[in-house]
Amino acid sequence: MTPARTWIIGTVLTVIVAITNIGIANGASDGAHLTAQRWSFDGIFGRFDRTAVQRGLQVYLEVCANCHSLEYVAYRNLTEIGYNENQIKAIAGQYEVEDGPNNDGEMFTRTAQPSDYFVSPYANAMEAAAMNNGALPPDLSLIYKARAGGADYIYGLLTGYEGEETEHSVAEGLYYNPYFPGGAIAMPKPLYGDDVEYADGTTASMEQEARDVATFLSWAAEPKLDARKKLGLKVLLFLIVLSALLFASKRKVWRDIH
Ligand code: HEC
Repeated sequence: MTPARTWIIGTVLTVIVAITNIGIANGASDGAHLTAQRWSFDGIFGRFDRTAVQRGLQVYLEVCANCHSLEYVAYRNLTEIGYNENQIKAIAGQYEVEDGPNNDGEMFTRTAQPSDYFVSPYANAMEAAAMNNGALPPDLSLIYKARAGGADYIYGLLTGYEGEETEHSVAEGLYYNPYFPGGAIAMPKPLYGDDVEYADGTTASMEQEARDVATFLSWAAEPKLDARKKLGLKVLLFLIVLSALLFASKRKVWRDIH
């Protein structure tokens, strides 16, 4: 093999190895060390597993939505994870939103529409805190990005409740969780397994539910991830071809000079 060819192959391999490793590295968090999980959306070839995102939506709606809002996601965004208009109308139709004022100047409630954002379980932040012993359950729209560890953190947190609180003395109204910075969280263990009956028949173990809802929340924070990665691949391919062309023309131009 000529040195030139070795050089090209070497460069291409290096780029591929570097790129496919992006996304595997994890930020550190203050809590216990997180175990890195395998996610379908890891790495440059990663894509959201739609069935997992859909199951995660079910877990969010049936469990987490009792306490957490998701204010940057609208019902109509669910088309991106494979729901059709009628299904979305049916999902939104289970909720009521306050609207108005009407012609009499009064606020009124109506059934939620696909264009509405996910309905919050609370009227406002004060009510949210008051209903949770003073701790505000954060909005989950961007939590995947807001916490070091991303999906690994969400998974670790949900599956990480262990032992009796008495074993690890935490204050009244708090629960021991080694993954939460400080170890004492105001959220009671939300998942036990069999909290939902999956529409697709998957067994609803606690780990499965945690994985699915972590996948769903990752999608909620990064809905354009699939498109972004597809574009990235195209750009990469273009750059590789361009490098090869430039290299070939350089050789041609300098051919006669020794
Ligand atoms: C009974 C109410 C309740 C339910 C149900 C609940 N949470 Fe929470 N959650 C809370 C509260 C309260 C906090 C704030 C905890 C704190 O700051 O100590 C919280 C915090 C969190 C956090 C942020 C932790 C951090 O690093 O700040 C995440 C992530 C989270 N919840 C995810 C979920 C998911 C996913 C579900 C559904 C499987 C869920 N929660 C169900 C009440 C709840």
